[in-house]
Amino acid sequence: MTVAEVVDRETLSARVAELAADIAADYEGREPVLLGVLKGAVPFLADLSRSLGPRADIDFLGLTRFGVEGRVSISMDTATPISGRDVIIVEDIVDTGLTLSYLRGLLETREPASLATVTLLDKQTRRIVDVPLEYRGFEIGDEFLVGYGLDWEGRFRNLPSLWAVLDLAELQGDPGALGAAVFSTGR
Ligand code: IMP
Repeated sequence: MTVAEVVDRETLSARVAELAADIAADYEGREPVLLGVLKGAVPFLADLSRSLGPRADIDFLGLTRFGVEGRVSISMDTATPISGRDVIIVEDIVDTGLTLSYLRGLLETREPASLATVTLLDKQTRRIVDVPLEYRGFEIGDEFLVGYGLDWEGRFRNLPSLWAVLDLAELQGDPGALGAAVFSTGR
């Protein structure tokens, strides 16, 4: 199976801790809500929130994407009212930027005190809408990645590090081989 590890566990954990330190410094004295976008942001949010210390609430929302122009609607809403709160959207990856752009627009209508985004990964070269991105973990090219929350057809979110799929046709032909190849490396 042609896959390559692009970010290992140690590098992920060190970068997430740096992001948490940046956020903690910027939000000194405030109590932000980390708003994870399901399902891809779950591992990242779990690690980020534990590095952030006590002053952060956690909530989630689910999105449904429809149309090629990337429109989204909220399929599972937050439990926390965000009006007047400092909200930090937690994303796994920003690609074209369409999803994040729509999401920010939706959340702005709820009048948070402030709105920012932290994304683990930024596919900057593929951006088609200009969307503010306050914190990013890694800038990457346009390879297709799985692991640490990122999926291919719902699979591989549970891989502990990030892997590039070098041959999608090969993956489609034998989806089981990727997990086996990754876990056999002991990573
Ligand atoms: P955007 O609206 O184009 O920015 O899309 C962001 C969404 O595309 C992410 O939340 C992912 O679901 C998906 N995505 C983009 N690139 C990848 C990738 O390399 N692996 C897995 N999902 C990806």
